[in-house]
Amino acid sequence: MREIYFDNAATMMKYREAIEAEKNFYREVNANPLRGLYKKSVQATTGVNETRKAILELAKADKSYTVIFSRGTTEALNMVANGLVLGRDGFGVVSKSAKVVVDIESHHSNILPWKQRYKNVVMAKKLDAKELFAAEVICLTGVSNVTGQDFSKRIKIVRKTCPKAILGVDAAQMLGHTRIDIKRLGADFMAFSGHKFGAPMGIGGLIIKKKLAEKLRPLNFGGEMVDSVSVDGEPVFAEIPERLEAGTLSVGAIFGLFEAAKISKRNLYEFRCEDVIYGSVGDYVSELIRETADGLKKTKGVKVLAANGGIVTFQVKGVHPHDVAQILADEGIAVRAGWLCAEPFLRYKGWGPVVRASLSEFNTEVEVEKFLDIIEKIRVKMGVENV
Ligand SMILES: Cc1ncc(COP(=O)(O)O)c(C=O)c1O
Repeated sequence: MREIYFDNAATMMKYREAIEAEKNFYREVNANPLRGLYKKSVQATTGVNETRKAILELAKADKSYTVIFSRGTTEALNMVANGLVLGRDGFGVVSKSAKVVVDIESHHSNILPWKQRYKNVVMAKKLDAKELFAAEVICLTGVSNVTGQDFSKRIKIVRKTCPKAILGVDAAQMLGHTRIDIKRLGADFMAFSGHKFGAPMGIGGLIIKKKLAEKLRPLNFGGEMVDSVSVDGEPVFAEIPERLEAGTLSVGAIFGLFEAAKISKRNLYEFRCEDVIYGSVGDYVSELIRETADGLKKTKGVKVLAANGGIVTFQVKGVHPHDVAQILADEGIAVRAGWLCAEPFLRYKGWGPVVRASLSEFNTEVEVEKFLDIIEKIRVKMGVENV
């Protein structure tokens, strides 16, 4: 039985080209970038630089931005939260008691890195003038992993309201899925994970204004981030991006990321599925989500909490979300259930744990029908059809 994979928000199904590129890197190149003068090392360095360019293009970032690679969104957000210089004045410098604002819909990865360093972290519910007042750093969800909502408009408004604050975007569910223009959003940095848009796991990073990256204190110290180390003197650090990328990068994954970025970019402007041409991959996925949500809404005892983009979040009356997910798993369907790493938001909404089906371009209508069929039988199966 082929599994139906409806957990693409946790990690998207991978593009064959991305897997091949990673495999081929280790088979045919397998050299450490930057370090060697031989052909294969140069090939590795070129691949890394080409991928930086492809990521910048995916976010329509101009030359004022660069890409710093990390393991993913979580590490990228930790890089900024830990790297901002604590001081009095200047761009990229924040005061010791800096007010940091994140939105209530944030993933834990956009809450905990800030909370561990700053005392005044506001989890904004409305992002109104009072919540934003005197904010030095604002980091907002780009696309929610709970509701699938796209917050681009809200981010632009916040930028206008707070022109001087350092503004970041958690783009884990955004990059590769929506057309982004980082400059128009007004973001100083954007954190992303390759595995959320068809690239291998273990690679992601920051798309960040160079002048902010130049200010960041590195999260890691070691090889290739330094030009000179002496016994007694201070080390002379390398320029960005290398200064913020100590150690050997996940180069195979970077080669895979290049392919995923290329495919995602193309899919954002035209997507073909069985002879139907869609304006973007998002149109195809949204149509599947609409069908899923409509079917769920017609099912007795099912409450749809949100349905946007590639995500539908719901609950089945009388059945714990984990039981729903288990029954689906037994039938070969993978979904996510629980707090979705967004416990403050689910508590704030009064929803508690939920079930999330997240679809991608690899899913089909037939799969949606099978999913709905099983959901329809769950309450009978659990003996709660009269609850
Ligand atoms: C909105 C959001 N932010 C951050 C993350 C963390 O991403 P990663 O685990 O790739 O670092 C996720 C992953 O689910 C997410 O959905």
